[in-house]
Formats: sequence, C-alpha cells, structure tokens
Amino acid sequence: MLVARRAPCLLVAAALAGCGEPDAPEGARDALEAPYIAFAADFARFREWERFERGIDPVPPTHFGESAIYLDRRPPAGAREFPVGTRIVRVETRRGDPSAPEVHAMVKRGAGYNAEGARGWEFFDLALAPGRAPSIRWRGEGPADGDGYTPPEGGAILSCNHCHGSATDDDSVLSPALALSALAPSR
Ligand code: HEC
Repeated sequence: MLVARRAPCLLVAAALAGCGEPDAPEGARDALEAPYIAFAADFARFREWERFERGIDPVPPTHFGESAIYLDRRPPAGAREFPVGTRIVRVETRRGDPSAPEVHAMVKRGAGYNAEGARGWEFFDLALAPGRAPSIRWRGEGPADGDGYTPPEGGAILSCNHCHGSATDDDSVLSPALALSALAPSR
C-alpha cells in the first residue's frame, strides 16, 4: 500500500532532483522529498501504537480533559526530527462528556508542507465510532473556521500552528513525553 502510494512521488522527486544531487540547499531539498499523504486507513490501528498516558492537564493550562498520546514509531537514535511518515494521535476525553473524546493527530507529511508553521506536519481531527476505523473530519495546516482551541481567558481561537509551530526544539512536538531526547537518545 505504502509503496504503491508513494512511488510516483519518489519518481517525480528523483527526476526533479537530478537523481540525488547532493548540493541542493536545505529548503529545496525539503520541497523535493516525497510527501507522505495519510488517509483514514493510516489511523485504523492507532490504539496498538506506543501509548503515553498524559493524565489531566499535563501542560497547563492548554488541555483540560484526560489525555493519551499514541506514536506509531520512534525516530532513530540521535534524530533531530521525526521522519516523514511519523503519525501521532492524541485522544482527549472532554470534561463532562467522556463518550465523545476529541481526537487530534499530526502526521509528518514532509516535502515543504506547512513551511510557515509546524514545518512538515499536517494536522487532523478524527472522528471515532464504535466498531469502526476512525474517519477524518478535517485535515490541513489547521482547522476549518470555527474549530480550534480557545484560551481559558477567552479571546481568539488558537490554531494548531499557534502552539506547535513555535516548538522548534522538538520538531513542533510539544509533549515532554515525546521529546526527541527522550524518544531517540544518541547512542
Ligand atoms: C494552546 C496551545 C495548543 C494548541 C492551539 C494546539 N495544541 Fe496540540 N498540544 C499542545 C500541548 C501543550 C501538547 C502536549 C500535551 C501533553 O504533553 O500531553 C499538545 C499535543 C498535541 C499532540 C500530541 C503530540 C505533541 O505535540 O505532543 C497532537 C497530535 C496535537 N497536540 C494536535 C493538535 C492539533 C490538531 C491542534 C489544532 C486543532 C492543536 N494540537 C492545537 C498545545 C496546543
């Protein structure tokens, strides 16, 4: 599946890059790498991934429910960024309605995507239904109008890039449990 989906992009990227010219500047290299375009099927078995229990409001005051983060694979030792194709799902049980969790995801799409925000990452809102694979409510550099986080003191709705785009030390990932130094220490 994965290979079939990515092969045409790889071919295009290879053709554009002159089959692996080593000296392309970093921004150009980013734009030429093959993107990873996630589909609903990419999230079907997320509950089998590595799970990080985050409890209630782990990084105050941004989240108020009880949350868990799932990571499909750790980056290689010493990595300074998450590889293209990395998938992360965060399930937050909303206060007052435990049966309707908020399920957000971010997938390393790469290829120069979201260059002005959380570089390379695509954000998702997923819907869970009992006995069914998750479906994608929205996807992109941020939520559709009217969806997002409202700060506790009120005011403007914050989009995903607002917080994640500024976490440059850990490749736009905010949870200390998923810090690159914790997940992929140098040998
Ligand atoms: C107000 C700041 C803020 C905004 C806005 C925000 N997040 Fe987060 N997000 C966080 C923090 C803080 C964590 C780490 C929570 C933890 O440690 O459990 C996090 C964690 C995550 C994670 C788990 C990976 C990680 O970075 O730790 C995902 C996935 C995620 N957020 C998706 C989203 C999506 C999608 C949006 C937009 C709808 C969004 N976030 C908007 C602050 C924010």
